[in-house]
Amino acid sequence: MRAPSIDGLFVSFSLAIIVPTLNEAGNVRPLLARLDAALRGIAFEVIFVDDDSSDGTPEIIRQAALERADVRCLRRIGRRGLASACIEGMLATSAPCLAVMDGDLQHDETLLRRMYDTLIARPEVDVVVGSRFVDGASVGGLPAGRARLSRIGNAVTRALLRAEVSDPLSGFFALRRELLDEVAHALSGQGFKILLDILASSRRRLAVVELPLEFRERHSGQSKLDLLVALEFAMLLADKTLGRIVPVRFVMFVLVGLFGVIVHLAFLAAALQAGGLPFYWAQALATWSAMTVNFSLNNKLTYRDRQLRGGAFAKGLLSFWLACTIGAVINLRIAELIYEQGALWPIAGALGAVVGSVWNYGIASTFTWGRAPRPAHA
Ligand code: GDD
Ligand code: MN
Repeated sequence: MRAPSIDGLFVSFSLAIIVPTLNEAGNVRPLLARLDAALRGIAFEVIFVDDDSSDGTPEIIRQAALERADVRCLRRIGRRGLASACIEGMLATSAPCLAVMDGDLQHDETLLRRMYDTLIARPEVDVVVGSRFVDGASVGGLPAGRARLSRIGNAVTRALLRAEVSDPLSGFFALRRELLDEVAHALSGQGFKILLDILASSRRRLAVVELPLEFRERHSGQSKLDLLVALEFAMLLADKTLGRIVPVRFVMFVLVGLFGVIVHLAFLAAALQAGGLPFYWAQALATWSAMTVNFSLNNKLTYRDRQLRGGAFAKGLLSFWLACTIGAVINLRIAELIYEQGALWPIAGALGAVVGSVWNYGIASTFTWGRAPRPAHA
């Protein structure tokens, strides 16, 4: 059947629903059934973006996709992250209206029709948000602690971004593809908060409509939110406010490096005092230990979205050792050169350390935790 037209354009799907999944095997089929019931008459497609779930989620999605053309599975390997999954899902469709929703049935699918209708009927509206904090909404599905955290996070975000949205942290919303194309190059893609990322990446004032959402209990499986998500959230906020000046990942990298100095001194003290090693060997052991601890921390925190495991972890560690060793040599040479030019020792030392850190960061980002470089026009 030919799909309906929007603004005179014939498209195969007028609405794409992006569903990020991580171990949602029990929720895929029920979600599709509910979408079918809720969206009768709308030409929609569902794009699941799965980060290599281990519970058979991709297989279930692909089975469904064999039965119907409006379901797709975009499977990512060696990658993690709710926000980046949503971005890639949105970029994988040509539908003029895009919606993002969770795969665990916590979001009320009957809102989708209203979101879609609003975008179609009101060309001035950029985004429609399912909000947990407008009149008529509820957060019944959130434990009290999480609900409070969510309110605080929302308040901080609103103050920082001056966005007139009651729930910029909601994971349920719809937007026009033009807006996605507008902000695509500016998105951070870090962490959990894709809506915030979009709102904060736009250069113009966006027209946002909010619809009350009753946040339901999760259908089956477990939440993937853990403590580190709070850190990711802080990183996203920092990136959106200060990130144009200094990349937040670099700041994180430097913080981990500074922590490494403490680790270094602790190991040095232990090797000298408890181990009774000669200074040279104690220093070498401490250096090596600090690099290893830094590597693990960077892998867990700074590059959490590209975390290395198993064989890739070992290879990454080797390349990190190598990069840091070269970085240390560069640091020494630069500091020496500047010192010889007559600079004060703190200045020479600090400049050497800065150049060494930038080198380490560059190598780590491109090789150790590398991915394809951004295109030149980005
Ligand atoms: N592809 C992918 N990769 N999907 C993920 C990842 C990931 O790293 N982490 C979580 N998901 C999927 C889950 O499978 C689920 O479908 C959805 O993203 C939401 O994850 P939950 O683990 O259920 O999160 P939550 O219920 O605690 O958080 C929800 O509430 C927040 C507001 O409090 C989400 O809707 C958030 O988006 C929302 O901001
Ligand atoms: Mn959930």
